[in-house]
Amino acid sequence: MQEGERHLVVIARALLAVGLDRLAERFEIREGGLEATREQLLELVPGASAVVADPAVPVDRDLLDAAGQQLQLVANFAVGYDNVDLDACRERGVAVTNTPDVLTEATAELALALTLSAARRLSDAERDLRQGRWLGWDPGAYLGLELHGATAGVIGMGRIGRRYARLVSALGAQVVYASPSPEPEAERELGAKRMGLPAVLASAEVISVHAPSTPETHQLIGADELDLIGPQGVLVNTSRGSLVDAEAVAAALADGRLGAAGLDVYENEPEVPQALLAAPRCVLLPHIGSASTRARRSMALLVADNVIAVLEGGEPVSPVG
Ligand code: 8YV
Repeated sequence: MQEGERHLVVIARALLAVGLDRLAERFEIREGGLEATREQLLELVPGASAVVADPAVPVDRDLLDAAGQQLQLVANFAVGYDNVDLDACRERGVAVTNTPDVLTEATAELALALTLSAARRLSDAERDLRQGRWLGWDPGAYLGLELHGATAGVIGMGRIGRRYARLVSALGAQVVYASPSPEPEAERELGAKRMGLPAVLASAEVISVHAPSTPETHQLIGADELDLIGPQGVLVNTSRGSLVDAEAVAAALADGRLGAAGLDVYENEPEVPQALLAAPRCVLLPHIGSASTRARRSMALLVADNVIAVLEGGEPVSPVG
């Protein structure tokens, strides 16, 4: 890089102004915009020293090669980084960062909101009211599950899973969990019990998924697992769509083999399977787990801090891999 020349930072789609402005003070910026196609991204990245990506942007060998050898960093605007080919980045000496911690509360709170909404059938009830189908109070209508006294099963006890466990525990739920390693703090503090996945699914009325998307977790919750959750059970997913077989969820809801579902994520976003849209007792949200003002602001600042640290010769603040 010549003296006086500024690094090029490519924002593949969009970054909130709070992060963007900090980057623009120091670097040349190119933005793809929310509608950027893959072809446009491949044309945008050549010459970039850093690329800011998000879960909708696959960062693979082709994109890295299109960027060129000067690329130093892929900064993902998300805690999940399944969209980034870590091996390909490592081979090219490209650092990868994500945005952990700052979105833990926002995402756990959304999982709680989905849990309560699905358990108490809020979507069906509101839809009926808006469509003029509320014909009068009915003691047997929209009966749902109370969290107080229920057992909540947490799949994946990372930061967000642990925070969710605390929230449901505060409402009086007993916590059981499945996780590759024990979480002694949650066991001590909340009396949480670690079990194998089938035992968690069979013993909990509420299941909330908080595991990362990896080849091992692909369709972790399929038809057999839904049968274990059962007709009184509630399934919540705020992690990644790939962990849950959405068609199987829709079929189980339609047949009454699954009590209710609350989903924020889908395998091929922004596509939502038609069967899910038509399914009863199902709350569907457009991937808004981290969408609190505070979390998104902090995520944008953390992305900027990572880019500045790496391009100014320091260590990344929140590296992955
Ligand atoms: C969204 C998320 O990706 O952090 C993650 O892994 O899924 C969410 O935070 C993010 O809000 C969009 O970039």
